[in-house]
Amino acid sequence: MGKIILTGDRPTGRLHLGHFVGSLGRRVELQNSGEFEKIFIMIADAQALTDNADNPEKVRQNIIEVALDYLSCGIDPTKSTIFIQSQVPELCELSFYYMNLVTVSRLQRNPTVKTEIQMRNFETSIPVGFFTYPISQAADITAFKATTVPVGEDQEPMIEQTREIVRKFNSVYGDTLVEPDILLPDNSACLRLPGTDGKAKMSKSLNNCIYLSDTAEDVRKRVMSMFTDPNHLRVEDPGKVEGNTVFTYLDAFCRPEHFAAYWPDYANLDEVKDHYRRGGLGDVKVKKFLNSILQEMLEPIRARRKEFEKDIPMVYDILKKGSEEARAVAAATLADVRKSMKIDYFEDAALIQEQARRFRGE
Ligand code: TRP
Repeated sequence: MGKIILTGDRPTGRLHLGHFVGSLGRRVELQNSGEFEKIFIMIADAQALTDNADNPEKVRQNIIEVALDYLSCGIDPTKSTIFIQSQVPELCELSFYYMNLVTVSRLQRNPTVKTEIQMRNFETSIPVGFFTYPISQAADITAFKATTVPVGEDQEPMIEQTREIVRKFNSVYGDTLVEPDILLPDNSACLRLPGTDGKAKMSKSLNNCIYLSDTAEDVRKRVMSMFTDPNHLRVEDPGKVEGNTVFTYLDAFCRPEHFAAYWPDYANLDEVKDHYRRGGLGDVKVKKFLNSILQEMLEPIRARRKEFEKDIPMVYDILKKGSEEARAVAAATLADVRKSMKIDYFEDAALIQEQARRFRGE
């Protein structure tokens, strides 16, 4: 059997560079590699509602933003199925059955859920839906018999939990589900791109994001005000590269050909780093270089977005068709699951015959 991808994002805001390096850019490469039989990309609105139950309008507004971000990055609806989670109700039914296979204490140990509970001050009042979203994520993945889940490292505990559910399901009910593998970004700087303020992660609430749909001027301003080495006060001072956000971004985005194009004084990033460490290289020059690299990368994305924005009904149509296609696939898996769980009563002619004989006393 061929390899199948499923991945997705919560529609709680426009997508940013962290999403791009964490998975979006990679998805486009994977899509175009021709290595995968099917690719499903899900807008996880139901999951977004697990911690935004009181703000459905936010989720509703951001579905189209995320769809536009996908399309403008090069997700091609003729090669990948883009769909909306809530439009595939089969996922809820799968979650309901998987809930029997997971303990409360196992969910409590999920490190991503733990951190998120703290971040949201949910400690004393965790919504059950939020608490159990790793189970629903297992349903998302297994409904499509995904072999491969390209996501950032923060999603690793979700994939591990999914694998456990698959193993448990298959051992209890017989071989039915496929155990997925996580596919992490290959550049270590991409594992977790910090925010422009140097904080651990890009996040809307911290106002430290560079969005894929930001204007060229917005991006430039963000780069020029980026966190660097707080002790690198004068150009002559030696500077630190480690923990310096501008260099972390360069590690993630800079390629050899960028030097000839934008900074021929240096042959490669190591030379820049050495100079910065020695002293005599100012932040502004390094930031300008990073800005050129980011602009080159983001410009075509912005241009494509502008095109798609001209035909929003068509974008909704892509989502509708994708959701119908996804639903058909999830329904087939659900039929397998029901059969394995022996709850396919009306599809099982032999069962009805057998019960009839039993009650006739045969
Ligand atoms: N939890 C993911 C996020 O926050 C979104 C998501 C939901 C997902 N279901 C998924 C990702 C299944 C991969 C596979 O970004």
